[in-house]
Order: sequence, then C-alpha cells, then structure tokens
Amino acid sequence: MMEIWYDTDPGFDDWMAWALIESEPAFKLLGVSVVAGNAPLPVTLSNALAIKAFHGFQAPVHAGCDRPLAQAQVTAQDVLGAQGMETTGPALPAASGAAAQPAPGHGVQALIDGVRARPGRVTLLAVGPLTNVAAAFALAPELPSLLAGLVIMGGSTVGGNATAAAEFNIHADPEAAVRVFECGVPVAMFGLNVCRQVPIGQAQVDRLKALGGDRAALFAGYVDGYVEIGRRRGRAVQSLYDPTPVIWLARPELFELQPARVDVELQGRFTRGMTVCDLRAPALPRANAQVAVKADGTAAMEWAMQRLEALLRR
Ligand code: RIB
Ligand code: CA
Repeated sequence: MMEIWYDTDPGFDDWMAWALIESEPAFKLLGVSVVAGNAPLPVTLSNALAIKAFHGFQAPVHAGCDRPLAQAQVTAQDVLGAQGMETTGPALPAASGAAAQPAPGHGVQALIDGVRARPGRVTLLAVGPLTNVAAAFALAPELPSLLAGLVIMGGSTVGGNATAAAEFNIHADPEAAVRVFECGVPVAMFGLNVCRQVPIGQAQVDRLKALGGDRAALFAGYVDGYVEIGRRRGRAVQSLYDPTPVIWLARPELFELQPARVDVELQGRFTRGMTVCDLRAPALPRANAQVAVKADGTAAMEWAMQRLEALLRR
C-alpha cells in the first residue's frame, strides 16, 4: 500500500489527480493540504472541500499557505476563470454545513505531523506552487529524510507556460521551489515536457459522458472545460498535468526518468522561475532530481480512464 500526502491548488487537473489517487486500491491518501495557486486560497480551498464532498472522500483537507514566500501572488485565473476551473456542464456544488469547514490545523503543520507519524512511509505529491512544502521543510528540516518519496508536477525541460521560461507552479513561488530542490532528497519532477506526451481530448470527454448518470456528467463537463483550454489555443487536445505523476506512481513502467541537476532561476530578468535542467550524463554527482522525460501517453491515459470509470460508476 502506497501512502500519499497530497498538496494541491484545485484546479481541475488537481481534481482529476485526486480522483485517480482515491480510485487506485494500491494507494492510501493520508491527507490533503491546499495552497494558493490556480486561484487565491479561499477559492482553491472551497474547490477542494467541494471535491471532497462530491466524491465522499474521507482524507482530511487542511488550508495551507495563502501567498508565496517572497513575491506578489500570481494566479492562473486569466486562463482558468475566477473559480480556477471551468465546466461546459453543471457546476460542482459547493460543500455545505460541516463539510464546508477545513480540518483543524494549518496545512503545513498537518503535512509535517502526517509525515512524522509515518516515518519512511509517506510519498509527498505536490501539484501546485511549492509554498506549503517549502514551509514544512523550513519548520521541520528532518522532514525530507522521513519521506518515502518526493514527487511534483512542476517545471519543464522545454520552456514555460506561465512565461516563455517558467512553468506555472514554479513561476508562482520560485523561492519555494529552490528550497524543495535543495532539500537533500531527490525530487521526481514531472514537467511540461512529459505532461505534453499525455494528451486529453474529446474522446475522453465522450467516454466519460457515455457512463451516464449525473456524477459522470458533471465530471465530464469539467474535463470538457479543461480540454477547452487547448481548443481556445487551436489545439484539439490539452496536456494532462497533475494526473501524470499519479499515473507514474501506479504504472512506473510507462515512464522514463533521468537523473539531472535542476536549479531554479531567481535573478533572470526574463527567466525567473525557469527550471534549469542539466540532463548531461556528468551531472550525476550533482543530481538532485529524477526528471521525467518520456511517457507512453496512450497507455497512461487508458489507465486513467479505467480508474475514473471505476470511480464514477460507484
Ligand atoms: O503548469 C501546470 C500546473 O499549474 C498544474 O499544476 C495546474 O493545476 C497549475 O497549478
Ligand atoms: Ca495544480
């Protein structure tokens, strides 16, 4: 059983990644810490509590950091809309009553406590800006050494999406990313380069809609809203970002990762937030990351769709 702590900024791809974690019998989700990213924290937290209520997930959801460590906040609302995720169908109902309250305790402390309680057992998967993770490592410097794994969706070996150089999660808090890549434990990095090898499009929307039922229809509407991001840019498909590292955790044979030295640019006038990935063989002695470079996108998407069908049919 793989025990996972999930740090996230929902966002629909975050939602899909969470659904995959919960649908995979080999995974046990210990807890969720929410961070500002795709939208400000009140919105990402509201989305997380609504996702938990919609699916009846049990893992506690904690509110984490509401701003980056050392820069003004940026969000992806210009691309994703005010709610941080859009749908072409029915809206996700907001959580209500007690379900609308996060679990007690700050998300950073909850992350620290969750890992300390299970030394050597917890894989930390972070799919938003790394503010919560960096803060946890600052408060508990021993935490990286207690992890079974440290996995992120973030960065890129081929240029950015938030800027020409920076991928959004790193762009939103570069100082936090520096602290994570310098934590002393190798980071399994799933950047734009590998996520672009796992496209999602109309075929997946149609497959989920064909399940029938209100829950599948609502979820499919958000998949369609996510695919629409690509359509608006003239692309028939959209890269599958946050679910990609989840698929690797379940089916590592579908991916190729390479040891590399990854440094995060902080000073560049045009390159702040860039992950400078040194994939040259001699980099090994300085390597601080395993960078995903190849994916079997078709097989990866098929695994994801089968898991989602199992979840949405429940
Ligand atoms: O660049 C893609 C990343 O930014 C994803 O994690 C998405 O959810 C946004 O946070
Ligand atoms: Ca995200």
